[in-house]
Amino acid sequence: MGSLTSIYIFACVFTLTLWNNVQPTVENEFIANYSSLLLTDVPKTIPLHTRVLDLSHNRISELSISEFISLSDLQVLNLSHNLITELDFNVFIFNQDLEYLDLSHNNIWKVYCQTLACLRHLDLSFNNFTVLPICQEFGTMFHLEYLGLSATMIRRSDFRYITHLQLNTVFLTLENFSLYKPQSLTALNTKSLHIVFSANQNFNFSLLYDGMSTSENLKIVNVRYTLSYKDFPSPALTLLKKIKTTALMLDTVDLEWPIILQIFLLIWYSPVEHLTVRNLIFRGPIGGLTAYKFVPFLSSLEQVMSLGVSMKALTLERVRNKVYYFNQKILYRWFSEMNIASLTIYDAYMPHMLCPQRASLFQYLNFSRNALTDELFQNCSTLAELKLFILRRNKFESLSKVSSMTRYMKSLRYLDMSSNLLHTDGAEEHCQWTESLKELDLSSNQLTESVFGCLPVNVNKLDLHNNQISSVPQGIAELKSLKELNLASNRLADLPGCGGFSALEILNMEMNSILTPSADFFESCQRVRELEAGHNPFKCSCELQAFVRLERQSGGKLSGWPEAYVCEYPEDLKGTQLKDFHLTELACNTTLLLVTALLLTLVLVGVVAFLCIYLDVPWYVRMLWQWTQTKRRAWHECPEERETVLQFHAFISYSERDSVWVKTELIPNLEKGEGSVQLCQHERNFVPGKSIVENIINCIDKSYKSIFVLSPNFVQSEWCHYELYFAHHKLFSENCNSLILILLEPIPQYIIPARYHKLKALMAKRTYLEWPKERSKRALFWANLRAAINVNLPMSFEGNEEENDVTFTDSITQPLIK
Ligand SMILES: *[C@@H]1O[C@H](CO)[C@@H](O)[C@H](O)[C@H]1NC(C)=O
Ligand SMILES: *[C@@H]1O[C@H](CO)[C@@H](O)[C@H](O)[C@H]1NC(C)=O
Ligand SMILES: *[C@@H]1O[C@H](CO)[C@@H](O)[C@H](O)[C@H]1NC(C)=O
Ligand SMILES: *[C@@H]1O[C@H](CO)[C@@H](O)[C@H](O)[C@H]1NC(C)=O
Ligand SMILES: *[C@@H]1O[C@H](CO)[C@@H](O)[C@H](O)[C@H]1NC(C)=O
Ligand SMILES: *[C@@H]1O[C@H](CO)[C@@H](O)[C@H](O)[C@H]1NC(C)=O
Ligand SMILES: *[C@@H]1O[C@H](CO)[C@@H](O)[C@H](O)[C@H]1NC(C)=O
Repeated sequence: MGSLTSIYIFACVFTLTLWNNVQPTVENEFIANYSSLLLTDVPKTIPLHTRVLDLSHNRISELSISEFISLSDLQVLNLSHNLITELDFNVFIFNQDLEYLDLSHNNIWKVYCQTLACLRHLDLSFNNFTVLPICQEFGTMFHLEYLGLSATMIRRSDFRYITHLQLNTVFLTLENFSLYKPQSLTALNTKSLHIVFSANQNFNFSLLYDGMSTSENLKIVNVRYTLSYKDFPSPALTLLKKIKTTALMLDTVDLEWPIILQIFLLIWYSPVEHLTVRNLIFRGPIGGLTAYKFVPFLSSLEQVMSLGVSMKALTLERVRNKVYYFNQKILYRWFSEMNIASLTIYDAYMPHMLCPQRASLFQYLNFSRNALTDELFQNCSTLAELKLFILRRNKFESLSKVSSMTRYMKSLRYLDMSSNLLHTDGAEEHCQWTESLKELDLSSNQLTESVFGCLPVNVNKLDLHNNQISSVPQGIAELKSLKELNLASNRLADLPGCGGFSALEILNMEMNSILTPSADFFESCQRVRELEAGHNPFKCSCELQAFVRLERQSGGKLSGWPEAYVCEYPEDLKGTQLKDFHLTELACNTTLLLVTALLLTLVLVGVVAFLCIYLDVPWYVRMLWQWTQTKRRAWHECPEERETVLQFHAFISYSERDSVWVKTELIPNLEKGEGSVQLCQHERNFVPGKSIVENIINCIDKSYKSIFVLSPNFVQSEWCHYELYFAHHKLFSENCNSLILILLEPIPQYIIPARYHKLKALMAKRTYLEWPKERSKRALFWANLRAAINVNLPMSFEGNEEENDVTFTDSITQPLIK
């Protein structure tokens, strides 16, 4: 047995080293978590190299060696909250590295023992044991630090096998408790002792007295005693000499007041330095001091309290009073005269506290969650040692009263007045803060900007978040030492200047109403190294650009950047982070915008002037306008005319100077003989009363083709150009070749004015019919011309489109008459 144990111990030391080395990688690979899977058996598929195995919150009722034999690396096993009734430690005989074994919250009533030499943490609490399950083998588990046990009785011999072990924590759960033999616990050797007593039974105070004689840290849950205080066995004075406990916590305490006092006085005289009582209910009666057998020699309880003792810190959390008629003043006096450094009375509905009668030792007072009012400690000069004072969640209303409360607290450094009902009441000029105050928490009150008229001059850190401050008035408060200011969750519309706060280093402005923070902030606040301004409803406009630039220049002084800085307005930018919000230089710089607009205007004017002068654009515009006017008028006057568009084969355009040729040669030749051509000549077919241009346009519109007699005369005649223009327009609008050019005399290019570029283009693009000088060629000329005009007018017209499409080019390059 002994050699086996030493092998285990060797293995244990070895794997401990290993454990430490591989710890960071253990996280996922070596953890198998089967928690809360309704398992009734240990799964068969657990990875072999599992080191941490969590089988808690299942329905496993039995364990067998075969389930764990292959898990040779297992170090942590959690089997809590299962249905195991009998436990055989031999099941883990092959898990030599097992250090941590949690079997709490099962129904175990029987164990078969075996040494698990590596075990450091063994939890058998909350089980169904009658007798403490401590077997002889535990005595050889030298690494054991934590031992959790349960039982319904504790006898003197129960701890005999582990008396020699130096334990860290012993955890005892004592449900349905029936028997305690006094002096049993004292056999334990542990730093901390934690006892959970049965919730619905009267507590056996021998456990408390023995526990205090056993360990330094003692915690007991469920200290109730429903019997009368008259039956209560008072502690023996001799006990005081044996007490080892320095930190005592009692949780869920329900006792009569005289019992509380006796226990309290015992503790008060003991070496206990830290006493915490949580969830305390005290019941009647509260009577005179005669009831206290324990201190018959002391004339007054206050005197007891003011004696020098070991006690340093007393904490009472969540105190409820079931005593109906009692003079609370006794209680207050009792607390106020305590000669201890630290007192916490938390969540006790306490409406008042008395000013100590003598110079008090209190350095820390925590009266959070009570019902204290402005009357607290007014004119109280005995709290000169007080450094930290916490009055969070009370019913204070007047800031000036609070300030005068601190007036004589010469050492007060920290005051927490958060979550009260403080408001400024117009008495700010009468504020009398103690000069020692460095840190002041006024958050979650109802303060407005007039709070700046009532602040302690030497304050370093000031918390004003969650109030109703809408501005930081300039010139009222001069806080030269202020380094940290929290103004989050107020109603401020802009960053404050640092006029009054020359030493400011940290400023929190989150969750205010800042749309556009002023960009000159860091100029005024040069010592600020951290500005929190996120979660404001930023309006992403040009002015904000300056703030974004400020962020870049500040070099990381904006904390929470970029996540917390998001556009709220305008709607289309909502949700955009400020870092992604950019406007061009042009959009934001008015001067630049004006200059650019001016330049653009100049360029535009230049272009327009150029077009007018060199390309005669106004002329074209005028023509176009006239043309459209004519078209419109024509449409309105005789819409039916449009049905009979084509009355003529061709319209002739010519210069007056060429009229002799037109009248003697062209017209007679085209109109004579068979298939004579109907011509629209402006002299002949003009409608009186219409303008010349209108007549020409009508003529063109009613003609199938337009014949232009080109000559230098034509080019120089403006009217001719009109005609050409309109015809060309028709050419395009009706998409057929309606244009016939006859070149009567050669036209040198230079004669054509620059602005007649349409004519130039036509001349260049279109092939024209040249009037031959020789008489012999003239027959061909007429033939070609007739062919070009060769169409039937609507009355006999029957879609001979092929001929319609004959172009001039074709008619010349392929002579029609052979
Ligand atoms: C296993 O998962 C449960 C939640 O399902 C968790 O509470 C527990 O801490 C996990 N165990 C381990 C060892 O990570
Ligand atoms: C089981 O014990 C392990 C080891 O302490 C722990 O990490 C885990 O959270 C426990 N599981 C549950 C469900 O409490
Ligand atoms: C606890 O053990 C007793 C016998 O010691 C048994 O009668 C009882 O049923 C057990 N309780 C549970 C919850 O297993
Ligand atoms: C305590 O007693 C009750 C009823 O007497 C029983 O239901 C419960 O299981 C017992 N608990 C333990 C831990 O023995
Ligand atoms: C504790 O219980 C035992 C019997 O179990 C009894 O003799 C003793 O008086 C009790 N002690 C206290 C302080 O209640
Ligand atoms: C005041 O006491 C309560 C209860 O013990 C504690 O939670 C809180 O942190 C204490 N406040 C300060 C500022 O110490
Ligand atoms: C405080 O003392 C002054 C005189 O020193 C007195 O006028 C005032 O009423 C006292 N205030 C309180 C609340 O006792």
